[in-house]
Amino acid sequence: MIVLCVFLVLCCNLVQGQFPRACITPDTFGTKTCCPLWKDGSPCGSRSHHGKCRNWVVPIIFAAGRVRQYDDDRLDWPKYYFNKTCECFGNYSGYDCGDCRHGYFGNKCDRKNTVVRKEIRELSLLERKRFFSYLVLAKTTKSQDFVILYTGDRHHKDTYKFVDASIYDVYSWIHYYSIKAILQNGTFDDRTNYAHQSPAFPGWHRLGLVFLERQIQLLTGDENFALPYWDWRGDKNCSICTNDFLGDNDVQGYLSQYSHFAFWKSICSGYNYDEAYCLGADDQNQMEKLHRKPGVNPDAPSLPTFQDVEETLKWEDFDLPPYDRTAKRSFRNDLEGFINPKDGVTQQTGMHNLAHNFLGGTMGEVALSSNDPIFVLHHCFIDKILEEWILRHNKATPDMYPKNDQPGQGPEECSTPYFPCYRNKDLLRNSTRFGYIYSKYKGM
Ligand SMILES: *[C@@H]1O[C@H](CO)[C@@H](O)[C@H](O)[C@H]1NC(C)=O
Ligand SMILES: *[C@@H]1O[C@H](CO)[C@@H](O)[C@H](O)[C@H]1NC(C)=O
Ligand SMILES: *[C@@H]1O[C@H](CO)[C@@H](O)[C@H](O)[C@H]1NC(C)=O
Ligand SMILES: *[C@@H]1O[C@H](CO)[C@@H](O)[C@H](O)[C@H]1NC(C)=O
Repeated sequence: MIVLCVFLVLCCNLVQGQFPRACITPDTFGTKTCCPLWKDGSPCGSRSHHGKCRNWVVPIIFAAGRVRQYDDDRLDWPKYYFNKTCECFGNYSGYDCGDCRHGYFGNKCDRKNTVVRKEIRELSLLERKRFFSYLVLAKTTKSQDFVILYTGDRHHKDTYKFVDASIYDVYSWIHYYSIKAILQNGTFDDRTNYAHQSPAFPGWHRLGLVFLERQIQLLTGDENFALPYWDWRGDKNCSICTNDFLGDNDVQGYLSQYSHFAFWKSICSGYNYDEAYCLGADDQNQMEKLHRKPGVNPDAPSLPTFQDVEETLKWEDFDLPPYDRTAKRSFRNDLEGFINPKDGVTQQTGMHNLAHNFLGGTMGEVALSSNDPIFVLHHCFIDKILEEWILRHNKATPDMYPKNDQPGQGPEECSTPYFPCYRNKDLLRNSTRFGYIYSKYKGM
């Protein structure tokens, strides 16, 4: 057992994708320091009392005897890349403390604004059109703050390269990056990853949504912008897969040329290649277009039902040993979709996984699924169910996050690969702490 000091004051800082453009210079890499100068010329805006540059010590708690080989660049995040990062004070946040926590605005970050996430069918025509135009803007605007990583050979760190990406693609890439098999002692371990099949699943996806929502608020100057959700309970088929909403598809599955996302392409390919990160990131032309085939997969013949959601909400325990896809009577494992919601024991595809597989196409390929914007609406609904569970069971405390030794999943570990660090255990608080709430819809 290794015991390290904890210097982390992390809850509810603004989420950042990584890597900050300002922190990938040879200089910052050489010193492992990511404390960029803010406008006032001091690291992390320390002169203006926005934050300070501090040593990063991530406490790793894992089972006795377990040997961790440090060949996976994401393990014990962000240790491989940085050991000094900004710690922001008060309502300030961001990789350089130049921004505000989610839900706060203004030069001094003292203006609070809690946005309401609504069901997409509750939006007015104008709100809906605005949402689609914001998404298109996010897909086509280069991120000023972040770059993404790619390599054809994960074994050799000197081949790692950073490239520009659009704001939406940075979001999509974060998901892709978290899912790649874990490199341990020279071999790839596919049994788990940093975002799925383990306790981090709900909080990890919550952070991604907060990241995207904030990025769009900043991009458009619209402080009231909230991501919509898709409440699929009771839908016989994908009722929002029409060109007025998320898009119809042709027989091959490609999105209709009249849909809002007809020309969108995935940011990464190479799902089946463990040894690559985001091949094709440097050449969008070779990427595949989005596709979907709702309701044709015989293994996922229908969407989860009202009853499935109610049964899922009844489990008292957030997660239980062995904290993976075999965990029984675990709210997390049921929500994620590895067990029957009713008995909590039988292994079957349900809930979150079922909706992915029902939609098929890009959504059916875990690593690429975030490229399809319907992913955002699906995960907002999964997050709404998490929020409902937290409220019903009065569970908004960090102690309910279980100790476990899945890589990157310990309560004190940083949600991987967000930047700066959010501890996994701090993510399961009421959504108001993150600047948003959900509308009531169909009784929930
Ligand atoms: C951080 O990394 C740098 C560069 O490898 C190293 O010189 C320094 O000792 C490390 N600091 C800590 C606190 O681990
Ligand atoms: C953060 O914002 C809140 C609400 O506007 C304000 O009351 C509070 O003083 C701010 N906190 C700090 C440390 O500035
Ligand atoms: C790492 O792999 C080598 C051979 O590939 C093996 O001898 C060694 O025991 C492994 N170490 C661990 C901790 O698994
Ligand atoms: C859903 O709609 C598609 C056509 O858009 C159709 O091919 C499929 O069979 C439908 N599935 C169900 C379960 O109704």
